[in-house]
Amino acid sequence: MISSTQTPAAVSAEDYLRYAADRVNRALEELLPSEQAAPSELHKSERYSMFAGGKRLRPALCMAAYEACGGTGDAVLPAACALEMVHTFSLIHDDLPCMDDDDLRRGRPTNHKVFGEAMAVLAGDALLVQAFELVANTGNAACVSTLARSLGSQGMLGGQVVDILSEGKTVDLDTVDYIHRHKTAALIAGSLVMGAQVAEAPAPIVEGLREFGFKIGLGFQIVDDCLDLEQTTETLGKDAGSDLENNKATYPSLLGLEASKAKAVALIESAVTDLRALPIEGAALEAVARYIFTRVH
Ligand code: IPE
Ligand code: IPE
Ligand code: MG
Ligand code: MG
Ligand code: MG
Repeated sequence: MISSTQTPAAVSAEDYLRYAADRVNRALEELLPSEQAAPSELHKSERYSMFAGGKRLRPALCMAAYEACGGTGDAVLPAACALEMVHTFSLIHDDLPCMDDDDLRRGRPTNHKVFGEAMAVLAGDALLVQAFELVANTGNAACVSTLARSLGSQGMLGGQVVDILSEGKTVDLDTVDYIHRHKTAALIAGSLVMGAQVAEAPAPIVEGLREFGFKIGLGFQIVDDCLDLEQTTETLGKDAGSDLENNKATYPSLLGLEASKAKAVALIESAVTDLRALPIEGAALEAVARYIFTRVH
């Protein structure tokens, strides 16, 4: 939806996302308890949301960061799967009646619409807990810590708190910036950092990727806000216009659509300039980052 310069010829974002999704989906199929295993209702609810067709962007960014730092093979898969589990947990809870109260997600009725609120809360909890078990079992304590900080009160949860407290209020741009950097950018930055940490990249590269992640993560949420206004429910696979209905503090509500899109373009260009200055093989990362800004859902 936003015009941006071309992805590097060598790597197509679509190809990279397909490659990452194939690998992570196969691993998740093995890792998640089967629907037959007790408690069956919980496992059905988890699998319902996990296999509803998400874009798998956070695992793709994690893998691309890992490979950019010289990592090879499957060692990155636990971190990549954990990221998709915690992301799906955040979506299930975000859709609850006490939060954004949405009915559609990933093209399907939301988890609580099918399984009830109690099971939706518990399925989210189960995904969060299993994600930490997965990363803990790799023995990479730095990764466990990155995941916790990306999600905690000074990460995603902090952003969700201010998002909810700002509903129906007139807030300033610093507050919307805080919401977006925390509720969304923190986990996107964490995805890149975890990929680099699994590859045992040196600290300056880890920090460079964290900064890159915060820029594309803020841009990601600005684009999400714009799509909520401009796309149909059918294309999004989630309720279009939800932000207006809930009187959410968003970029377009403060700056308007055109200025919001200009801000998103500035963020991706600045992020890519920073990325190209790092001594890593960043073509796939750049391609996936640019896709974030041209996507239609
Ligand atoms: C949606 O994330 C939630 C936000 C942080 C805006 P995605 O757009 O990555 O959702 P899926 O995983 O593809 O469903
Ligand atoms: C959600 O932001 C961020 C999360 C932590 C889930 P939104 O509430 O804008 O995400 P969507 O639009 O429902 O996917
Ligand atoms: Mg929300
Ligand atoms: Mg929402
Ligand atoms: Mg949204």
